[in-house]
Amino acid sequence: TLPKRVKIVEVGPRDGLQNEKNFVPTPVKIKLIDMLSEAGLPVIEATSFVSPKWVPQMADHAEVLKGIQTFPGINYPVLIPNLKGFQTAVAAGAKEVSVFGAASELFTRKNINCSIDESLQRFDEVLKAAQALSIPVRGYVSCVLGCPYEGKISLAKVAEVAKRMYSMGCYEISLGDTIGVGTPGVMKDMLSAVMHEVPVAALAVHCHDTYGQALANILMALQMGVSVVDSSVAGLGGCPYAKGASGNLATEDLVYMLTGLGIHTGVNLQKLLEAGTFICQALNRKTSSKVAQATCKL
Ligand code: HMG
Ligand code: MG
Repeated sequence: TLPKRVKIVEVGPRDGLQNEKNFVPTPVKIKLIDMLSEAGLPVIEATSFVSPKWVPQMADHAEVLKGIQTFPGINYPVLIPNLKGFQTAVAAGAKEVSVFGAASELFTRKNINCSIDESLQRFDEVLKAAQALSIPVRGYVSCVLGCPYEGKISLAKVAEVAKRMYSMGCYEISLGDTIGVGTPGVMKDMLSAVMHEVPVAALAVHCHDTYGQALANILMALQMGVSVVDSSVAGLGGCPYAKGASGNLATEDLVYMLTGLGIHTGVNLQKLLEAGTFICQALNRKTSSKVAQATCKL
């Protein structure tokens, strides 16, 4: 059976924009987030406090966080790789953070320049500091259905990393198909393995749509009881350390499917489409959302 309501985690302002070559002006980022708030997204990942040498696009993190309107009932988590990122984020006003690990050694090395074990030690430090300040921490596990450097990833490794991040106190574990290679059968097997270690209520899926499989994979996850789904307005994005990875599933397309299934999201599709149009115009880019493409022709 499908969930009655789904919490959508909008990652466009971070996952979507981090990969843009040209610097997106800070006021554009702020306006995008404000429009997403107006559209009723319950969680909007606003930016990341990573090294500006590694990801220059997110260098204006503090200005973005200070500039956005915060709506009651909406959370604006930010991505952080280590204690330094945590402290800077909190100083800039972050009320929630996300740490990001992976089930692949090589991806972890390319993305955050350490081993999986070292990354988990860093996250543990962050969790301790966050608990002292009552700041909730979300945890990502990347490469759950495949890695750009290692190829196939063992389900046991995915389950182990997810379990360790959940045990150290992450309230939610977002399972990332970073390069969008998964198909529904593999999604099912991966979730079955992870659900032995982490309660399904604490799981989210984060599907990049590189191979056009995201909607099908998400439907499989919903059928298995997952009720938190990450997506990106206009399907923006990719990961700078996963070459060729395209954006997450477009939030517009996710909302359309969920509405059709009678699943409540609280999102206003019309306002969401406006946010998508705004950012595509600002980036001078065609939307990747099928729903946006279809409705603008009507
Ligand atoms: P490093 O070079 O190994 O770090 O990078 P270091 O500790 O040796 O420090 C080097 C310099 O970075 C120092 O500055 C530090 O102060 C500074 P310097 O002395 O050279 O002037 N530094 C920082 N600056 C700002 N913020 C920080 C910070 N930490 C150290 N937090 C590091 C290690 C983790 C910093 C680096 O590898 C990094 O920033 N990586 C970020 C990579 C990234 O953002 N990737 C994209 C997000 S992940 C993703 O997209 C996947 C996801 O969507 C899920 C999915 O799709 O699967 C989440
Ligand atoms: Mg991602």
